[in-house]
Amino acid sequence: MASKNPSLPSYLLFMMTCWSLFAVCSSLDVNFLTLSPPWMGGQWFLLHSSIGVSAMHMQLLKNNKVVIFDRMDMGPSNLSLPRNYCIQRPNKTLDCTAHSLLYDVASNTFRPLLFKTDTWCSSGSVDSDGTLIQTGGFNDGERVFRKFTPCDDNACEWEEFPGGLKDRRWYASNQVLPDGRALILGGRQAYTYEFFPNDRPPTSYYMRFLRKTTDRYGDENNLYPFQHLLPDGNLFIFANRRSILFDYKRNRIVKELPLIPGAFKRNYPSTGSSVLLPLRLNGTHGLPEAEVMVCGGAPCGAFNMSDKNRVFVSAANTCGRLRVTDPQPRWVMEEMPMPRVMSDMLLLPTGDVLLINGAMNGTAGWEDATNPVYSPVIYRPNEPDPERRFVVLKPSRIPRMYHSTAVLLPDGRILVGGSNPHTRYNFTAKPFPTDLSLEAYHPYYLYPLVSPLRPSILSVESLGSTVSYGQVFSVTFALRVFRPERGIDVSLIAPPFNTHSSSMSQRMVVVEVVGLEQLSFFTFKITVIGPPTDTVAPPGYYMLFVVHAAIPSHAVWVKVQH
Ligand SMILES: *[C@@H]1O[C@H](CO)[C@@H](O)[C@H](O)[C@H]1NC(C)=O
Ligand SMILES: *[C@@H]1O[C@H](CO)[C@@H](O)[C@H](O)[C@H]1NC(C)=O
Ligand SMILES: *[C@@H]1O[C@H](CO)[C@@H](O)[C@H](O)[C@H]1NC(C)=O
Ligand SMILES: *[C@@H]1O[C@H](CO)[C@@H](O)[C@H](O)[C@H]1NC(C)=O
Ligand SMILES: *[C@@H]1O[C@H](CO)[C@@H](O)[C@H](O)[C@H]1NC(C)=O
Ligand SMILES: *[C@@H]1O[C@H](CO)[C@@H](O)[C@H](O)[C@H]1NC(C)=O
Repeated sequence: MASKNPSLPSYLLFMMTCWSLFAVCSSLDVNFLTLSPPWMGGQWFLLHSSIGVSAMHMQLLKNNKVVIFDRMDMGPSNLSLPRNYCIQRPNKTLDCTAHSLLYDVASNTFRPLLFKTDTWCSSGSVDSDGTLIQTGGFNDGERVFRKFTPCDDNACEWEEFPGGLKDRRWYASNQVLPDGRALILGGRQAYTYEFFPNDRPPTSYYMRFLRKTTDRYGDENNLYPFQHLLPDGNLFIFANRRSILFDYKRNRIVKELPLIPGAFKRNYPSTGSSVLLPLRLNGTHGLPEAEVMVCGGAPCGAFNMSDKNRVFVSAANTCGRLRVTDPQPRWVMEEMPMPRVMSDMLLLPTGDVLLINGAMNGTAGWEDATNPVYSPVIYRPNEPDPERRFVVLKPSRIPRMYHSTAVLLPDGRILVGGSNPHTRYNFTAKPFPTDLSLEAYHPYYLYPLVSPLRPSILSVESLGSTVSYGQVFSVTFALRVFRPERGIDVSLIAPPFNTHSSSMSQRMVVVEVVGLEQLSFFTFKITVIGPPTDTVAPPGYYMLFVVHAAIPSHAVWVKVQH
């Protein structure tokens, strides 16, 4: 049933050939049968030349709105606060501009949101009711948490809770836990983790691993540590070059994993990125295997070189894959088509990984990178031929360097924004001005040509319109051209909090299919089993996609809960 074969569906091939005035069906070249790079390039669209705020942080919410925000301490933005509202910043300057906004995907419009305290380089996660929990920042914001509860009118605003965090959280990362809490990990000079909501009384837990992985002389290389919740309930935590399996309930390292090979550092400011590859349930009724992937970064000393000497060394061109559920996990290294630092890694509904944004030289930090990498690449984890796993896609024209972002939308597009490698907004800086635009990247699966193969979800039939653990439920969908031999999957994707190349709590679960029925000529019903445990899929809102012949439907939101 798995859609392992990404080759161009024969239907599409037939249509392409026949639609071409100059080609005849009989002159078909069999090489065409593979989905080759020219076909996978995708398309770029500019949504707004300016949204007034540079998109440093992004989170998609369950009502198809995206919260976008920057920092507060860099002077005015290009978006005014409504009703001539102004706010006094800590140094007594009056600021009448917004540093956050709510973007509505369907109407392509946005409205400003007000923040009082500084959210610079902060972290976040979504709770099991769909409320965005933003944590930390800088200065007056470093121990603040903030909530944004989605609403269907224009009434919702940020709520701020000063002093709500135990420790300062600047460059920390969050992971949603099986019980619905979040674990907030690390940050600059914060060698601890804490929970949200916190214990009573508020507590933070020392973690020697965070101190041990800090490089000296300002390089650090362990900020925004990567963390992924594993199916057995432990956390995979990666910082610098080291990784561990961590039992957060007992504050105990379960296992030290091997060092990732090569001299490259992988965390901020040598910013690489990481994903937990899709968790696939396959009918063995056990927990799924889990594999993590880490890509890009920068060599030891790279930050010093760019920050002090203005020499931008080449970024890391390698990725490592580690099957963490193996008894003796081993890194398997692969080479990317180009070096990358500060790239985002997003899971696509097809189960492939998209690398987008970033630069080829230098590191994260003010003015610390050059040579933007305009081309996203797709990585196909299940492609057996290693030479064909990476595909270079169509380049954007906008450099997306330090402080750029990207998130998957429910319609399969990628929302891309930000880039501001300067301490303030600078629209005349050369060659990388502050960027306030918003773009959409459309992967190849959105080509109109493949629309006959695209399922269109009609309904999700489950008790109480939520999905509980191990529950059998069904999804009905319409489809014009049915090619069951090309695979059909139902996937759940948790929308990540994206900043600094980290997609926090990003997760994809391919649930087990137990039945497929044709209801009428164009309608079908697929029956699946919900995720087995809250360690496989923590409670919360997920985008549910039906993926047929490697072409995903638009998603519908489902709430996974006990
Ligand atoms: C005060 O902070 C604002 C940003 O919030 C900045 O633009 C301004 O230059 C600062 N003023 C002083 C005197 O530091
Ligand atoms: C932002 O506002 C400034 C000052 O009004 C203006 O010069 C600049 O062009 C604007 N930038 C963008 C990208 O809209
Ligand atoms: C199913 O998953 C289990 C556990 O992850 C694995 O051991 C097994 O090989 C998988 N079987 C297939 C057919 O993929
Ligand atoms: C970074 O620079 C400092 C001071 O210039 C120097 O002492 C240190 O060795 C450098 N670190 C690296 C990793 O190159
Ligand atoms: C990028 O790095 C490569 C390899 O170190 C170097 O040859 C090249 O000059 C660098 N490019 C820039 C623009 O600094
Ligand atoms: C913008 O950047 C340029 C260098 O590219 C610099 O000369 C200028 O002073 C900067 N402007 C501001 C307002 O910082």
